[in-house]
Amino acid sequence: MIYQIYPRSFADSDGDGIGDLPGITARLDHLAELGVDAIWLSPFYPSPQADAGYDVADYRDVEPLFGTLADADHLIAQARARGLRVIVDLVPNHTSSAHRWFDAALATGPGSAERQRYVFRDGRGPDGTEPPNDWQSVFGGPAWTRVADGQWYLHLFDPGQPDLNWDNPEVRTEFLDVLRFWLDRAVDGFRVDVAHGLIKQADLADWQEPQEILSGPETDKPRPPMWDQDGVHEIYRDWRRLLDGYPGERILVAEAWVEPAERLARYVRPDEMHQAFNFEYLLASWTAPAQYAVITRSLAATDAVGAPTTWVLSNHDVVRHASRLGLPVGTARPNGIGIGDEQPDAATGLRRARAATLLMLALPGSAYLFQGEELGLPEHTTMPDEARQDPTWERSGHTQRGRDGCRVPIPWEADAPSYGFGPTDASWLPQPPVWAEYALDRQRGVTGSTYEMYRAALRLRRTHGLGRGTLEWLSSGDEVLAFRNGGLVVLTNFGAAAVPPPGGELVHSSGPLNADGSVPTDVTVWVRPA
Ligand code: NOJ
Repeated sequence: MIYQIYPRSFADSDGDGIGDLPGITARLDHLAELGVDAIWLSPFYPSPQADAGYDVADYRDVEPLFGTLADADHLIAQARARGLRVIVDLVPNHTSSAHRWFDAALATGPGSAERQRYVFRDGRGPDGTEPPNDWQSVFGGPAWTRVADGQWYLHLFDPGQPDLNWDNPEVRTEFLDVLRFWLDRAVDGFRVDVAHGLIKQADLADWQEPQEILSGPETDKPRPPMWDQDGVHEIYRDWRRLLDGYPGERILVAEAWVEPAERLARYVRPDEMHQAFNFEYLLASWTAPAQYAVITRSLAATDAVGAPTTWVLSNHDVVRHASRLGLPVGTARPNGIGIGDEQPDAATGLRRARAATLLMLALPGSAYLFQGEELGLPEHTTMPDEARQDPTWERSGHTQRGRDGCRVPIPWEADAPSYGFGPTDASWLPQPPVWAEYALDRQRGVTGSTYEMYRAALRLRRTHGLGRGTLEWLSSGDEVLAFRNGGLVVLTNFGAAAVPPPGGELVHSSGPLNADGSVPTDVTVWVRPA
């Protein structure tokens, strides 16, 4: 079980309102108590923060807002002392426009070797005033920006994130060296950002479709020229060889928004990455048939290449599942929720989120949690728009609220300034007043709290070997899913009517059962059969 830490929003040691590495180190005992196996840290490298650190200016150092390289070493050592592995984020698709390479590319001009590290092209139209193709940025607006001498550069994300040219061997050599830098500092692996984007179709052909980070092509649609090109796999084979040369188990995890599952499984073939996030699972509707279909398909696809399946419900790019699941079933995935938008039903959302979590944590494979979900934390769905910082909000012309709502600094203590996030009231995104009721100190030791539900689930997951188990379906109807894994029987009731529990001893449940022992709507139970 891997726990994602978003450093800006986890714990702030110095009171500037932005989380930092010493803040994380001071809270490692919480993660050990919760029962996580590994932490994945979102980027903490020097960065102008045009995309909250996913715009890296120097891959071998630490952003002063977050601390120093010595703080990173200390964090890694302290995590290790508690038996926690550490995975860092690697952002190879693009650098920051403040990276020294990009400065050099601008300084040297068209045709230079320095420009070949990025994707520079002349524009279209008589004066080259039109972008080289019609690609849109994931955050909205054109994916090209024109520089002073008239050429254009590609950025699939923000203009502050120029795409690298992975056809250039110099780029490949540089990243092998960056990997070595962190492997030598004893990290256990890398989460690879936009792993499906590094290679672009050579002709940079137009693509009339809207640009989305969150959906890969369905089988019957043409493959977008910027995503999931076959050439990416050679890069990961090189990286895998490098990792295999290091002692211990070091892993690569692909952030690849690729569908269908069979296509995603190509990233985790035996000589490539170890795991890939399963976003098809995250996006699946809360119905028994949809969950059955995605679980079955995910397991089959990864089994075919001998890799573990992964499961994820929340991260720093999507509406938190305690809120997402509080929207009516079948609602299209919102890219953020704000004032004036349809508001999720908090009680339904939390109830389903807890049921979804216990379903997920009973599945064989690797589960990924996002900081705060162990508190049942909802999305901040009424954040004032003026407070928003995700470039999506501006670049989409205020049509997409973006990802700030899931990135709000998390609450530790109900009655402390910034709910214990830091020593002062400062918080880089506003925390809603409901944070008090979700704070860790209101849940720790409280029977039935979401925190204690997660903690017990993680303990049982470990003792029953669920992560390494095998799933055997017992029931896959329209209303109820039930399966066996590692000596437990797991049942989720999606239907409107209560259903009898599986026979045996109840070992865990996402909510109270009815007085007659039946399993209510939107509840998952774990039972040890007699
Ligand atoms: C995926 C990251 O998770 C997201 O936060 C970021 O904006 C893009 N990649 C671009 O790096």
